[in-house]
Amino acid sequence: MSHACKLATGNWKMNGLRADLDEARALAAGFPDAKCGILLCPPATLVCAMADALSGSAVMVGGQDCHAQTTGAHTGDISAQMLADAGARQVILGHSERRADHAETSAQVAAKAAAAHAAGLVAIICIGETESQRDAGQTLDVVLSQLAQSLPDEATSANTVIAYEPVWAIGTGRTPTLEQITEVHDALRANLPDQAISLLYGGSVKPGNAAEIFAIANVDGALVGGASLKAVDFGAIIAAL
Ligand code: G3P
Repeated sequence: MSHACKLATGNWKMNGLRADLDEARALAAGFPDAKCGILLCPPATLVCAMADALSGSAVMVGGQDCHAQTTGAHTGDISAQMLADAGARQVILGHSERRADHAETSAQVAAKAAAAHAAGLVAIICIGETESQRDAGQTLDVVLSQLAQSLPDEATSANTVIAYEPVWAIGTGRTPTLEQITEVHDALRANLPDQAISLLYGGSVKPGNAAEIFAIANVDGALVGGASLKAVDFGAIIAAL
């Protein structure tokens, strides 16, 4: 059992319109006194409205990405300061979909995390191997290298969370074995600059497999995609934490 804070984070990815804020409200109604941190990360268009809808509740709101700079000529981007101003408390960075779709490097992720910290946001930094990297026996080398290169110098348990998301498990319904998750999380814990940094697992977490994943000693919670869109599903996952 680690001493890190328990956290259930929902990543809505590119899903969600204003009508879907009802799901966020329903989730908050189900957890008036949360025993763990609960976070929803909607698309940027909903951050402000969701923060307003969840004001006074136990459910926090986060972003899904931010720029490394505070202001400037970067059409379509948003800064960490803007997210904080909109009511976000945290921001997901370096998700494998950002790394793949936008060629984000770990060095860029570290710069974004530093910007998030400067804005007072907690950075949830994602790392994870592809299926071919796992098949080649490179999993630990890949994730430990991503960890070392994606963490800014000032990272502590107060401003940083790590999410291990094997790329091949995201949205596929496939999950690593409990032994495989244990191996990676143990290696990550041993290489953290601050032992109290929370380590989340992400990749096809559902109500049916959450409890066994959360029973792993170095798993401090989950980063959930598809199953975070409906309050009933995400609520069942949170209840297992
Ligand atoms: O960030 C969450 C994620 O990538 C996992 O997605 O849909 O497999 O839970 P999903």
